[in-house]
Amino acid sequence: MKLIVLLLCVVFAASQSGVPCGVSVVQPITKRLVGGQVAIPGSWPWMVLVTDSLGYIYGSGSIIDQHVILTSAHIFHRVFENSLHRWRIYAGEHNISTVDPHEKAYYVRGVEKHPGFNITSLENDIALIITVDPIAWNDATRPVCLPDAMHGFQVGENCYLAGWGSTKYTGNDETLNQLMMPKLDDNICASHWNDYLPVTEICAGYENQQKDFCVDDVGGPLVCKKSDGAWYVEGIASSGGDCSQTSDSPGVFEDVTQYKDWILNAMRGSGYPYQY
Ligand SMILES: *[C@@H]1O[C@H](CO)[C@@H](O)[C@H](O)[C@H]1NC(C)=O
Ligand SMILES: *[C@@H]1O[C@H](CO)[C@@H](O)[C@H](O)[C@H]1NC(C)=O
Repeated sequence: MKLIVLLLCVVFAASQSGVPCGVSVVQPITKRLVGGQVAIPGSWPWMVLVTDSLGYIYGSGSIIDQHVILTSAHIFHRVFENSLHRWRIYAGEHNISTVDPHEKAYYVRGVEKHPGFNITSLENDIALIITVDPIAWNDATRPVCLPDAMHGFQVGENCYLAGWGSTKYTGNDETLNQLMMPKLDDNICASHWNDYLPVTEICAGYENQQKDFCVDDVGGPLVCKKSDGAWYVEGIASSGGDCSQTSDSPGVFEDVTQYKDWILNAMRGSGYPYQY
């Protein structure tokens, strides 16, 4: 009997903190479809929606550990630090008009913005959100992997951005949508924006096609599946996102490989060292 209780405790502990990163229980659609589509519920399980207490959407983020969300710094621009208690992080979310089976809201303990963040140039547009309670893992809630600092990703690689705003004209406004976004050469973004920063930013998406991310997707992860079968967050949606029907510019993402050291230090400093 004692042994059974002990075994149950071990199984419970593993299911609470021992899930692997970058592995979805529900497989996402990864056909080479150009254009956006509605995501399969739970297939991008690290996606979170960042809102205020009234449900106003500020952006998206990705779960990298039980207390830690990776997002962009500029979603906090209009918000006073002392109103953090009004923020909500929705994990396991799919349809924003209903309560999904695995949906759960979390409160925010703190926000760690990159000290070099510049709202004008959007340089170092990266931040961590620390939740009050640990995020409970389930089939629709899992962490994504952080890439190695040296593990750059290749031009032409097909990565995906999911969001509640992306693919506005081809997905569904209420549900999580996804968009395949190929990585493009830095020169393409540099030709669209004279303040593009090739060292710390990634250029991805499409030129001369009306497919892009929208403001609600800012902070969301650009994820790529590596040869080990796991999904890695290679970019954070930052700027260039313009889902108007006339948009013809690619998207600009923060290059997570360039910020790995900052992320690891900030996580250690907040008391939640990276586990993977
Ligand atoms: C989202 O939920 C609402 C409310 O339950 C429902 O009316 C709507 O059809 C759902 N949307 C989708 C795309 O499933
Ligand atoms: C922020 O970026 C703008 C535009 O590039 C630049 O003029 C300004 O000096 C930067 N501010 C800081 C504090 O670096």
